[in-house]
Order: sequence, then structure tokens, then C-alpha cells
Amino acid sequence: MAKLFVNPNVKKGHINPELQGHFSEHLGRCIYEGLFVGENSDIPNVNGMRTDVVEALKEIKVPVLRWPGGCFADEYHWKDGIGPKESRKKMINTHWGGVVEDNSFGTHEFMELCRQLGCKAYVNGNVGSGTVQEMSEWVEYMTFDGVSPMADLRKANGHEEPWTVNYFGVGNENWGCGGNMRPQYYGDLYRRFQTYVRNYNHDKPIYKIACGPNADDYNWTSKLLETLFDHSAGSLLNGLSLHYYTVPNGVWQEKGSATEFDEKSWYKTLKITLKMEELIKRHGAIMDQYDPEKNIGMIIDEWGVWTDVEPGTNPGFLYQQNTMRDALVAGINLNIFNKNCDRVKMANIAQMVNVLQSVILTDGEKMVKTPTWHAFNLFKYHQDNELVESSIETRQIGLEADCMIPDLSESVSVDKDGKLHVTLTNASLTDASDIEMILAETPVKSVKGSVLTGKMNAHNTFDAPDTVGCEAFEAIKTEGNKVKFTAPACSVLHLEVEI
Ligand code: AHR
Repeated sequence: MAKLFVNPNVKKGHINPELQGHFSEHLGRCIYEGLFVGENSDIPNVNGMRTDVVEALKEIKVPVLRWPGGCFADEYHWKDGIGPKESRKKMINTHWGGVVEDNSFGTHEFMELCRQLGCKAYVNGNVGSGTVQEMSEWVEYMTFDGVSPMADLRKANGHEEPWTVNYFGVGNENWGCGGNMRPQYYGDLYRRFQTYVRNYNHDKPIYKIACGPNADDYNWTSKLLETLFDHSAGSLLNGLSLHYYTVPNGVWQEKGSATEFDEKSWYKTLKITLKMEELIKRHGAIMDQYDPEKNIGMIIDEWGVWTDVEPGTNPGFLYQQNTMRDALVAGINLNIFNKNCDRVKMANIAQMVNVLQSVILTDGEKMVKTPTWHAFNLFKYHQDNELVESSIETRQIGLEADCMIPDLSESVSVDKDGKLHVTLTNASLTDASDIEMILAETPVKSVKGSVLTGKMNAHNTFDAPDTVGCEAFEAIKTEGNKVKFTAPACSVLHLEVEI
């Protein structure tokens, strides 16, 4: 019996809703078809945004959406995406399949999507191939409430009121697709570009995010922060990004299929996922040297499973299926983000629809919710809660000596009504786990739960959209301050505990 210790009286930090954020890029069928079909489409839509997808996304309470990229951000010129659609410039999407981008989804459409989702806006600016003026004018266009060339242009394009830009990324992956820069050079550019990301709305200042490292590139974090903090007058950044993908088998050339994999690959993939914890700790330790108060957020604005594309699909579109393996990857990562909420302030799964580890897949007018969507649906109860102290006893499991992992992961929070929310993953493919949860000095009134479980490669298809989904979890015994239950093999669980 594994013991899960919870102390509801010890609060460990605030869980920003943004830890369950999303990312949508002009890539493959994420924006076009996945989210935006245009007003004249036969697919039901509101102002061009497909209704089925928006409804499904609202259900998981999407807190924030990052756009327009990704690599696309550093070749996106925002003025091409405003004004009458028929006169918008067409461009080549050089990163993603070399297809024509007609710019029919631009700033106004993105803000409309955020409005419909009821989420915050995270806009990523162009440093790689853009100018300071272009970035500065974009911010003025979106947020200035007064008379100015850009505010007037926005009004002429039909939007009188400024929008709120909650988060602004100054470049993306500038160590790679965003310009192949060295950290010192990007650091200097960041200092310059961010100067002109003006806060026109003092009540809602823009949270500025610098491009941080790729995975374990600790040198990038060190050199960048050294550059940003050198003679800086005050803090130039609010957040530092981190990108880390779960590449099954750990080798880009041998990622393998999203659905056809064996047990060894299962454990290896989850071990690779667990590295997220180490990355947060080690990059966090470098951040601590400059920011011991943890005022600067770690923004994990790209994470998720990256497999081979589905057979027969455009390799540049990154379209992949999604199984219980993805649900476990999501559950493990979301628990890690919760547990590190003192430093991690936002995380954005890549990507929202039809690209990489999506929560939604579409095929024409059809739509399915993936196992990852269901995992997010279990975790949504943590949003805006306080993390409480918890720990769980685990066993090492796996099939190869160098690929052993702990069987269980968990996090616990308390909501505004005083209810506890427990999320737990069981990564074992063979063994259910008997768990005894012990709440320090706190008797339990009632518990209800929901579970997501299935075979390791179970997934939803357009013909069988409900193969994987959540069920009520009722086999729970309560006695005093103890709760006993059995977490099925290969599962993600949510328990709501009234105390
Ligand atoms: O999410 C796909 C791509 O992965 C993004 O465009 C880029 O930032 C990263 O390399």
C-alpha cells in the first residue's frame, strides 16, 4: 500500500491557471481548419472560429493562448495580417511545409478567438527577421487607447477599443529557428527590443518574456541572464521561457509512431518526460542567482510529445495521433508544474489542435477530444488554487535497468471553497496501485473522483471518438483522516476531497 501524505495546512504557492496554457501556431492544420474555418464555411462557426472546437476548449478552461508561433513568429509580419482579407499579402510558410499563408487569420482574429475562449492573450513578437519599429508598432496597435498612427489604424480596421495583451514574447527559439543567435547577442537584442514594448495600459502591464533555453542548455540561461542583468536598470524581463519536448526513445531520428510502440518505449518515453523536473530545478537554480525572490517566472511555453507524423500526412504539418501515453505525459508534466509553482508561472502545451500533442483533432467537419484533452479536464480543478504539501511513496518500475521510473506522481491543491484536489498518475502498465491517503489532522467528509484509463496505445478516432474517456471513480473508502483507493494501471485520476 503506497502512502500519500497531505498536509492541507501547509501552503506551498499559488497555481496560476496559466500552468494549463496552450499554444497555437500557423503550422499545418492548427489555425486553419483546426480553429479557424472562416465565416463562409459550412462548418458551424462564430466569426470564423469553429463552434465545436471552441466549446470543447472552453470545457477544459483554457486560461491562455500563445500565438502566432513558434518558429513562425520570427518570420511573421503582423501588418500582413490586418485590414481587408482580400488585400492581405500571401507568404510562404517556410518552416512548415512551404505552404501559402494567406494571412486571413491575423491579430483581430486571434483576439476574437481569445474572446470566445475567455482566455488571456500571449502574443509572440518577431526578433529574428523583424525590426524594433515593427514590434513597437504592433504593441501600439493592439493596446494603445488614444490618438496615434497605430491606434487609428486599428480603429479604421474596425476595432475601436484596445485589446489586452497579457503576455508578450520577445522572439522565439532565437538560439535556433529564431535567428541562430548566441546568448550574449540575443541578450543585447532583447534589451533593445523590449525597451519599445511599451505599457500603454498601466492597469494591465504587459508581462515580457525573454527567449530562454532549449532543454538542458544551461549555458544559454547563464549567459543570457548575465547579459540581461549587466548594468540593467531594474528588471527587463518578467519571464524566461523554456522549451522541452518529450521525444520518444530520446532520438529525433527514431521518435517512432504515436500509436504503435512497445512497453519499453512506454517507460523510456515517460523517463524522458520526467527530465522536466530536473530542467526546472537546474535552470531555476541559475535564475535564483539573479532573482532569489523568484519574481521572474519560468515560462514553459512549449512542451509535449513529438512523434513521427501520421502515415500519409505532410511531414511539415506535424500531425500525430494521441494515446494514453500522451495522457500520462500530460498528467506527469502538469503535476510537475504544480509542484514547482513557486517558479513556473505558465506552461503551454504544443499544440492546441492537429499539431504534435493536441487536445483536439479535426478532420473536415469531424472533431475528437484526445486522451490529452481528458487529462487536462481532470487537472482543471487545480486552476487558481493553492498548492499544499504532499508526498507519495513510489516504487521504481520499468523493463530496462537504465529506464526505471517511479510508478506514481501526484499534486494536491486547495480551492477557494476549501476543497482539496488530488491528481495522480499511475505509469505502471501492469499493476494497479493501492493507495492510502493520510491528511494531517484533517478528517475527511466526502470524496468523489474521476479516472482516465485504458491500454497504453488506446486512442480516439473519428470513427470511434469515445474509446478513451473519463469515468466516475467510486471505489473509495474513507475513515477519519484516511482515504483508501486503488489507482488502476496506466491511469490519470482526480479526487475532490471535502474536509
Ligand atoms: O511546436 C513546433 C516548433 O517547435 C515550434 O515552432 C518551435 O518553436 C519549436 O522548435
